[in-house]
Parts: sequence; C-alpha cells; structure tokens
Amino acid sequence: MELNLAGKAVVVTGGANNIGRGIALAFAAEKARVLIADIDEERAERVASEAGGAEVAVQRTDVSSWESTQSMAARAVELFGRIDVLVNCAGGTIDRLFLEKPREEWEREVAINFWGFINCSRAVLDPMVEQRSGAVVSLSSDAGRMGEWRETVYSGTKAGIIAMSKSLAREMGSKGIRFNVVCPGFTPGKRDAGGDFGEGSMWSGKQGEQFPEELLEKIAKSYPLRRLGTPEDIAPAVLFLASEAASYITGQTLSVSGGYTMM
Ligand SMILES: NC(=O)c1ccc[n+]([C@@H]2O[C@H](COP(=O)([O-])OP(=O)(O)OC[C@H]3O[C@@H](n4cnc5c(N)ncnc54)[C@H](O)[C@@H]3O)[C@@H](O)[C@H]2O)c1
Repeated sequence: MELNLAGKAVVVTGGANNIGRGIALAFAAEKARVLIADIDEERAERVASEAGGAEVAVQRTDVSSWESTQSMAARAVELFGRIDVLVNCAGGTIDRLFLEKPREEWEREVAINFWGFINCSRAVLDPMVEQRSGAVVSLSSDAGRMGEWRETVYSGTKAGIIAMSKSLAREMGSKGIRFNVVCPGFTPGKRDAGGDFGEGSMWSGKQGEQFPEELLEKIAKSYPLRRLGTPEDIAPAVLFLASEAASYITGQTLSVSGGYTMM
C-alpha cells in the first residue's frame, strides 16, 4: 500500500516524547516534512536530530494557548507553504481518584487535552480550507471511549476529542478535510540513555512514579495481546489515517490497544 506521504507538510504536537516522538519519526521516515510543536523545545530538537537528515523543524508551542498555536500554524505555512496534516498528540493526565484530585490538575488536563485540540485544529483550518484538503488525526484514549477509574476528567476531555472530531468531520468533509481519532491503550514512556523522561512528559512526574515495572507487567497480562503498547504500535495507524490511502475515511475512532477495548 502506498501512503504517498513524501513531501507532505505535517505538524505533530507533543512530538518531543514517547508517542508523539514515534509519530514524528515515522512521518520523517516516509520523507514527510515535519514541524514538531512542543512545549519542550530542547527535547524536540533532540528528536529532530534523530530523523536521519529528514526535514524536521521545531517550534516551541503551548497547545493550551491560542496565540502560541496561531504562531505554530503560521510557522508551518512559512516553512512548507501549506499544512497537509495535523497530529494532535500533546496531552496527558495524572491518574488520581476524582475525590482526591486537586482542581489545578483538572484544569491542566482540560487546558492541554480539550483546549489543545480546539486551538490547534482551528489554527490549521484556514490554510487547509484554502487548499481544500487536509487531514487531522488526534490522539484520544480508550479512557475516552469507555471511561477509566482515576481518569475522570481526562476521560471527559478525550471523549470530547472524539465528539469534536466527528462534528468537524461533518462540517469539513465538503472542503476536503478529514478528522479521525486514534486511541492508544497503556503505552508507558521510556527513559532515554541519560535515564530521563522528557521534562514535559507526564511520565517524568507523578504519573510515571505510579507505575513501577511489576505493575506494568500485571497490566499487560490483562490485555488480550498480553503486552502494553509502544509508540511504534501507534504510529502506523496515525500515518494511515493521515494518508491518501484513507481518503474515504473520516469521523472514525480506532483503538490501537492490544484488544483492551473492542468497541
Ligand atoms: N501513553 C499512554 O499510555 C496513552 C494512552 C492513551 C492515550 N494517550 C495519549 O497519547 C498522547 C501522547 O501520550 P504520551 O504518553 O506520549 O505523553 P507524554 O506525556 O510522554 O508526551 C506528551 C508530550 O506533550 C508535550 N506537552 C505537554 N504539555 C504541552 C503543551 N501545553 N503544549 C505543547 N506540548 C505539550 C510534552 O512536552 C511531551 O513531549 C496524549 O494525548 C495522551 O493523552 C497516551
């Protein structure tokens, strides 16, 4: 199957770490032109340097900020002259029971996951409408499809991404723009050679601390495919939905989660 992604102008938010990093590098391997838009500029530059000479640029972006995401889109147009693909990947949570969760954590989850989707999607739509083509692939979560204990607000924001993507798929189909969603299952971050997670990664903080190796092994046993996900499991689904091979697919949600959910 030909994905025809060579030369496509792709913006990946959250591309400095874990899943977003895997997605950015997978597009680069297909010879797409990539802009990594992440709050962690240093780590994003490191990913760009891993892309084997492919065209990968970095823009420091806070997806929760309207101004910052407008600058992100403007930079992509300046670099590439167009935007063919947006991957909304920046997002995250800290797992905690609803009754025990401080309000600041809810606000952060809503700001990054929910407002991040709105800001970034709106920012790329002007060039996409003008081109009369484009594909937006957003990372939701199985938590957004079936709910998850200790992830109440996160689940709500991720369900919002699914609903907003369907609504935008309806509004934008006639303009040649498609919206689809990929839902990873548990895909833990990995430490780099220096023993660090990225500073902006949820795995570097309380979220990571909650999941020692023994617990990850236990969780893996509850998955039909008996292992947890990796960024390399998620990226092919994102690339497919972004590509012309998926030109008749819009408004859809695909779980890439080892069978954890079967919706
Ligand atoms: N990893 C999982 O188990 C899992 C499961 C289901 C869904 N997801 C979703 O997949 C996506 C990626 O997950 P991950 O594990 O790679 O996350 P991660 O925390 O490792 O990486 C998130 C990236 O987003 C960046 N970021 C954080 N806040 C930002 C902001 N305000 N603006 C711009 N960039 C910001 C971080 O610097 C980091 O590079 C998220 O949307 C997450 O909700 C992950």
